[in-house]
Amino acid sequence: MSNNNIKINKCLFPAAGYGTRFLPATKAIPKEMLPVLTKPLLQYGVEEAIEAGMDTMAIVTGRGKRAIEDHFDRSYELEHQIDGTSKENLMHEIRNIVDNYTFSYTRQVEMKGLGHAILTGQTLIGNEPFAVILADDLCDNEGESVLSQMTKLYEKYPDSCIVAIEEIPREHTNKYGVISGIEIEDNLFKVDNMIEKPEPQDAPSNLAIIGRYILIPEIFDVIKTTKPGKGGEIQITDALLTLAKQGKVLAYKFSGKRFDCGSVDGFVEATNYFYNKQK
Ligand code: G1P
Repeated sequence: MSNNNIKINKCLFPAAGYGTRFLPATKAIPKEMLPVLTKPLLQYGVEEAIEAGMDTMAIVTGRGKRAIEDHFDRSYELEHQIDGTSKENLMHEIRNIVDNYTFSYTRQVEMKGLGHAILTGQTLIGNEPFAVILADDLCDNEGESVLSQMTKLYEKYPDSCIVAIEEIPREHTNKYGVISGIEIEDNLFKVDNMIEKPEPQDAPSNLAIIGRYILIPEIFDVIKTTKPGKGGEIQITDALLTLAKQGKVLAYKFSGKRFDCGSVDGFVEATNYFYNKQK
């Protein structure tokens, strides 16, 4: 990877999953479109990517996800109806996004895991470093967004992948990718091991990966040779372990809050948090 290609322009959003934990809400609506207050989860992610300087959103969708494409598009009839009314400002943010940023899509035909979803997005990313946001990990920070913090770090370490981590209670390790490593700067670890969803007794630490990644394009070839792991799926954690063994993965303990909006509890917590914040 050459050091002159350190600006990250593209953000990949894996968004093909079924969202079974939110049935029946997700029967006809993609889970990424569930709103926290009035904004869909995916829009929060897109805004975070924009804040981190990205201009192209690469979305890996699947069957039943057309609402995502419609959301990031003009809606002439609706806009015509509310133009000049008090409701107009409700559409301001999304209109600004649609008018100024690029969205591209590809479909993951079979659900074979997060690693496979990311590989499916290769056609949208090409041969450049990119970010990944899992929209159901909703992040907020008073200062710089989590992804901005990570892109800054990437400028310093342009040959590495970076994963966001947070400390979790030991008994929850089987819900996350878990890393271990050596702290090389405050809150920054050089990863020496990572395991997808280990039982607490097998976990290398209590530092869990959350849904923010910066990946170097080399990852695509590594994913292609990564065997199915946990749950019979191609795991990004396993692919990253290959690069970690070459000293190419950093883990960053970010500043800010993160809500697991893939669970009902986390979703309610996020809703209360953002409601109180906007009051
Ligand atoms: C995925 C990753 C896992 C990571 C988590 C963060 O799991 O496989 O390593 O810790 O996202 O949310 P999922 O939540 O999709 O099962």
